[in-house]
Amino acid sequence: MTRSNTRAIVLAAGRSTRFKTKKSKLLFNICGRTMVLYPIKVLEELGIPMTVVLGYQAEEVKQDIETANVPNVSYIIQEEQLGTGHAVACTQKTWDRDNILIMNGDLPLLTKDLIEKLIQEHQDKDATITFLTSLVIDPAGYGRVIQEDGKISIIEEKDCTPEQRFINCINAGIYLIKRDFLEKNISKLKRSTVSGELYLVDLVKMASDENHRVETISVPYDNVRGVNTLQELWGVEQIKRSEFIKLWMANGVRFELAQSIHIDIDVQIGAGSFIGTGVHLIGNTNVGEECSIGAFSILSNSVVGDNTTVHSHSVIQDSHIGSNVSVGPFARLRDNVTIGNDVEIGNFVEIKNTQIGDHARMKHLTYLGDAKLGKSVNVGAGTITCNYNGVEKHTTIIEDNAFIGSNNTLIAPVTVSTGAYTAGGSIITEDVPADSLAIGRAKQVNKIGYAKKLRDRFEKKTNNDNNNNDTCSPKNPENIITQEDVEFNFRGAVKSNDEYREEGF
Ligand code: UD1
Ligand code: CA
Repeated sequence: MTRSNTRAIVLAAGRSTRFKTKKSKLLFNICGRTMVLYPIKVLEELGIPMTVVLGYQAEEVKQDIETANVPNVSYIIQEEQLGTGHAVACTQKTWDRDNILIMNGDLPLLTKDLIEKLIQEHQDKDATITFLTSLVIDPAGYGRVIQEDGKISIIEEKDCTPEQRFINCINAGIYLIKRDFLEKNISKLKRSTVSGELYLVDLVKMASDENHRVETISVPYDNVRGVNTLQELWGVEQIKRSEFIKLWMANGVRFELAQSIHIDIDVQIGAGSFIGTGVHLIGNTNVGEECSIGAFSILSNSVVGDNTTVHSHSVIQDSHIGSNVSVGPFARLRDNVTIGNDVEIGNFVEIKNTQIGDHARMKHLTYLGDAKLGKSVNVGAGTITCNYNGVEKHTTIIEDNAFIGSNNTLIAPVTVSTGAYTAGGSIITEDVPADSLAIGRAKQVNKIGYAKKLRDRFEKKTNNDNNNNDTCSPKNPENIITQEDVEFNFRGAVKSNDEYREEGF
């Protein structure tokens, strides 16, 4: 027998009652993949066509599987969840191969080689049923495998006698059954008198009683842990994560506090890289060689080039960072940011949907949204792009070698051309031509000795306030506008470009 005469049935219709959540347990994420996709991906790798039984949250589970683009999957709806035996019975019209491989949907640690072994054993022994078992210290929650007088059966925990509960050989929930036997016997299943469900596992006793060959393979528990509760989910997640951490350690990655790190299944990390405490590497994240990802940083669906340092507490999402770049601490990059090589992005910098050329620098307190920055651009501290007018988003373009002074407000759409300078504190509303200096701010005026006058006035006001609370009174010195105030305000006002030019800028 080869895989080619096997069809798989994945049971994914159950209500997940023991999870106590509204969402089906099969939709919970474990290291970047939903639970139901784990057994499905194993079958995909083996090239075995499969039927998935849907029921509780059928649409959501189906959609989840479809987004993974797995070929050769068909679906059957089990309208009422009357047990695993009933779920399999619902799929009868899809039994198009000689052997039917049935597996629970809640087996995220299952591996390809266990299924290969199961198929091989089933073929070698020409068995009617072959299923996986495991010896566990605490068998609570599992069906117990009972072998007595040459007969074998599986008793569900709810149906076990107190003595049977001590049996620590459990049914793993993965069975290979000859189609002929299934066709003759599936309709003979009877509802459990305890739970009212039709148990698939009762087929084992039926086959054994009729002297059919029933084989078992004992496998490591950690590969067949079922997930019925959130606590069990936590358990398998720990195992999955440590598998990835061990894999990357073997490939030359140093983890600062390995047990605190989260890594998803599709993550890649280059040799010589350092992953700090509490780092999350999520989705399709790819970290290059000799990188350092600082403590508590979160990288999701992002690429980091070689020799790049992401300092602690940075959050990077859907972005692409080049080589020899420094990011953070406390930086946030999101929604399609592309950064060239040799770039420095400092603390409290947020960048959204922006492209940044090589050798650019923005080292402090900046927001860049919907911007395009050329090479060797410098962005001063506190500068922001005003990309949103409440209705539309606009682009800011800063060309090669431009120098944006500190605390600039760049009101998009606007372009600062090659080699231009903008003065600190400017509000840039108009395009700045190449190699020009833009000053968009009030000119400073120093009123010699004026501070003392102000102080005297404020002191007088305080005395007056203490005696008279009527701050609107014309007698209140604060309400008397002096000639100097008028002049001060006038000279401090924003001037036109011509006025500045007259003053020699
Ligand atoms: C099942 C086995 C038990 C075994 C354990 C291994 C039965 C009766 N019991 O118990 O012997 O030790 O798995 O993990 O099979 N499902 C449906 N339709 C239903 C009911 C369930 O599709 O009407 C699906 C569930 O979504 C799940 C799978 O079948 O993916 C198994 O159901 P679950 O309730 O988890 O069975 P267990 O009690 O764990
Ligand atoms: Ca289960």
